[in-house]
Amino acid sequence: DAVERGEFRHYMLKEIFEQPHALAETLEGRIHNDQILEAAFGANAHHLLDEIYAVQIIACGTSYHAGLVARYWIESLAKLPCSVEVASEFRYRQPLPNPNALVVCISQSGETADTLAALHEAKRLGFGPSLAICNVPESALARAADMVLMTRAGPEIGVASTKAFTTQLLCLLMLTVVLGRRNGTISELEKVIVRAMRSLPDQLQKLLELNQEIKQIAEEFADKHHTLFLGRGVHYPIAMEGALKLKEISYIHAEAYPAGELKHGPLALVDADMPVVAVAPNDTLQEKLKSNLEEVHARGGQLFIFANHRAIMQGSDFVKIIELGEINEYISPIAYTIPLQLLAYHVALIRGTDVDKPRNLAKSVTVE
Ligand code: G6P
Repeated sequence: DAVERGEFRHYMLKEIFEQPHALAETLEGRIHNDQILEAAFGANAHHLLDEIYAVQIIACGTSYHAGLVARYWIESLAKLPCSVEVASEFRYRQPLPNPNALVVCISQSGETADTLAALHEAKRLGFGPSLAICNVPESALARAADMVLMTRAGPEIGVASTKAFTTQLLCLLMLTVVLGRRNGTISELEKVIVRAMRSLPDQLQKLLELNQEIKQIAEEFADKHHTLFLGRGVHYPIAMEGALKLKEISYIHAEAYPAGELKHGPLALVDADMPVVAVAPNDTLQEKLKSNLEEVHARGGQLFIFANHRAIMQGSDFVKIIELGEINEYISPIAYTIPLQLLAYHVALIRGTDVDKPRNLAKSVTVE
């Protein structure tokens, strides 16, 4: 066990640091001439992806958060309507079937009972063809779906999912590109996105260098009972994933909000005892997010801002800025995930929890 972890104290840390390699594996052999190969989705993909006019994503936990990111991509880039739902709700809701909707089930293990049952329910109801985005080739989900796109993250031992999530995101971006190409909505953009995908391993390697800085920041969370994570747009689900990581392994209550909803409740909770983490890339929503953060600041909240550049706000004792550097907008959600994983890890380490096997949680939930 110690051998497999190598120099790392926990599997989770090892798996965080494996991400540059894992993402390179995800892309391996799936790109040609700056285009995503449709064959990556299986031999039948060419035919099965015909007449897809909508996407229904189904998943649980961290995999569900990957699906939420994909909705922003699929609607804005491939211009197809996309719904995302947790499997345990989808399977009992009696959703209206759309035979032209591609059903995308995302699961690291491929054995999550609700996700499997939801796939069978979607088939029974008459939804369109299904695609499993999965990390275990021989899993029940991979066998049940019409198409499979393996994430190729390698075995993930830590209960809190890390490399499975970022490789799922990359697979979903590949899917977006393929659907967008078919729908005639991305043309020249495909090259730009594919090049950004290729740059991911190097970009993530640089972001892992934030480890020491984040280790220091983690000290400021260790004695807190609550935290708020804020994001907007495609980075809102990344804030949700950051909050989930923190609660899973540090047992600190963490909640994520789309920053535009601050005034509708969470602002009442803001005080010096509740750190506020903001995922704040320089995208079209940054100005709006900044004004949300000013409100937190004005109410005495302690801010930790993850941003491309320090210039986003004046730093102070109450405003800590963690600089990620320039990042292409299409891969930005993947990049911003890394420092949030490190934050959760270091907070848990200080609190002395069982990082790889948090209490009450299982790696794979195979019963309802
Ligand atoms: C459990 C794990 C999570 C995971 C979720 C879904 O809750 O602890 O890390 O995200 O199940 O698992 P799946 O294998 O379907 O992605």
